[in-house]
Amino acid sequence: MPATALLAVSSSSKVAGTLRSAGSSVWTKDELIALVREQLLGHKLILVSNREPYVHRWVDGRIEVQQPASGMAAALDPILRVCGGVWIAHGAGDADRETVNERNEVCVPPFDPKYTLRRVWLTEQQEHDYYYGCSNQIIWPLCHVVFTRPLFEQRYWDAYREVNQLFADAVLDEAADQPALVFIQDYHFALLPRMLKERNPNLIVAQFWHIPWPTAEIFRVFPWGEEMLDGMLGNDLMGFHLRYHSRNFADSVRMGIEARADQTGFDLTRNGHTTLVRAFPISIDFEEFSALGDSAEVAAERENWVRELKLEGKLVGAGIDRIDYTKGIPERLRAFNRLLERSPEYRERLVFVQIGVPSRGEIPDYHALDDEITNLVREINKRWGTRTWKPVALCKGQYNAAEMVALHRLANFFVVSSLHDGMNLVAKEFAASRTDGDGVLVLSRFAGAAREMSQALLVNPFAVEELATAYRTALEMPEEERRRRMRKLRTTLKQNNIYRWASELLSALLRLE
Ligand code: F6P
Repeated sequence: MPATALLAVSSSSKVAGTLRSAGSSVWTKDELIALVREQLLGHKLILVSNREPYVHRWVDGRIEVQQPASGMAAALDPILRVCGGVWIAHGAGDADRETVNERNEVCVPPFDPKYTLRRVWLTEQQEHDYYYGCSNQIIWPLCHVVFTRPLFEQRYWDAYREVNQLFADAVLDEAADQPALVFIQDYHFALLPRMLKERNPNLIVAQFWHIPWPTAEIFRVFPWGEEMLDGMLGNDLMGFHLRYHSRNFADSVRMGIEARADQTGFDLTRNGHTTLVRAFPISIDFEEFSALGDSAEVAAERENWVRELKLEGKLVGAGIDRIDYTKGIPERLRAFNRLLERSPEYRERLVFVQIGVPSRGEIPDYHALDDEITNLVREINKRWGTRTWKPVALCKGQYNAAEMVALHRLANFFVVSSLHDGMNLVAKEFAASRTDGDGVLVLSRFAGAAREMSQALLVNPFAVEELATAYRTALEMPEEERRRRMRKLRTTLKQNNIYRWASELLSALLRLE
């Protein structure tokens, strides 16, 4: 869409900056609401993602609503709660059909409805080929360069196209003939922007890619690269976490498809339509995590962890991840083993607690990883454990926010050792919940979060010795330094919160930057 048409969205001549309270460097919910009201007059907000923010499941004969372990869903839910609109996603829960109306819609959050969730149904075969196949065995390993080979199956790509079309039908139905802004999440929908623009050129379409984008040299092996890039260039705005990923994407376009770049290299024009490519580091609702960190609920959960895992008087290291081969979980366990080898004084004094949320269970690589982690933990506990001390506590399952934040609050050091990660919001959640100002973050240099969180102990997670040294440094860091680092991390995150992310993205889309 040309700039003039985008600006016509708003009758106001105010730019985003003028909506901010004077002197404030922190974006708030209210400022985002003001921006949306000022600039999106009459436009319906339609968000699209594969993963739904609320899942209905049968538990012991009753329907329960659950929030999935998805950084994306957790980050976007507050935005929709503030802005209202419709969120279209795959209905994956076994009780999802029982809870929607005839338009496949349900109001959420269930306890305080603020927006509409519209569910799209997939057959088992579609889910298998589009989600487990194309999204997570082709695009995921292609974009995360961790040496897992993508499985370039034609039927997976065909299913991907088919499912993108199903979502396009739902979006177009939802928009009808009213003005709408469609905000697409992630790598499950690279073809959707073009499909939407072809059928309704008046839609404003933006997409955010929550994972890395590889270098052009890696992307060039993707067999359907031209179709994918053409799909993404249907967007008015294409967002990545980092400028580095934006640059990689622009390079892939330059090498792979007919398109013209402006002098910055980040405004790409194909067949007369311009896509702005920009970096927006995603974040979290800092205030919400801080409040949770201080809550009585978290204090109670903390007691539960201490009691159940016998943590009284122990030093604690911790990690919370989906069980995914990009997260570097075996690497962090090997480093823990190495620490116990090198530093006998920590034996019987230190426990490492790892929450592992089961993920993408149909994929063989994920199964193999799950086994590898279980075996490693068993070996470490067998080698070092005593009658009264179990060095590693592996907790597999779904945990609620209070339970996870309670673990943050218990940790002397917290490990995010992703081998490659777009951002990693767990690292941000850890620092946001540490209102006590203590705790050390050990963070992979290869997670996008490392760019903003330089006060963490930054490590190469492939280097086990380095990681083991970082644990030791964290454990021996003087209190004053721990507090200084945590203060800086929290100041950065307070400013770079999720409302700033959304506001900056919207401002760029409306060319108010
Ligand atoms: O990191 C990419 C991402 O899609 C996130 O946006 C999301 O939090 C995570 O992966 C979860 O993946 P899935 O929806 O496949 O469980």
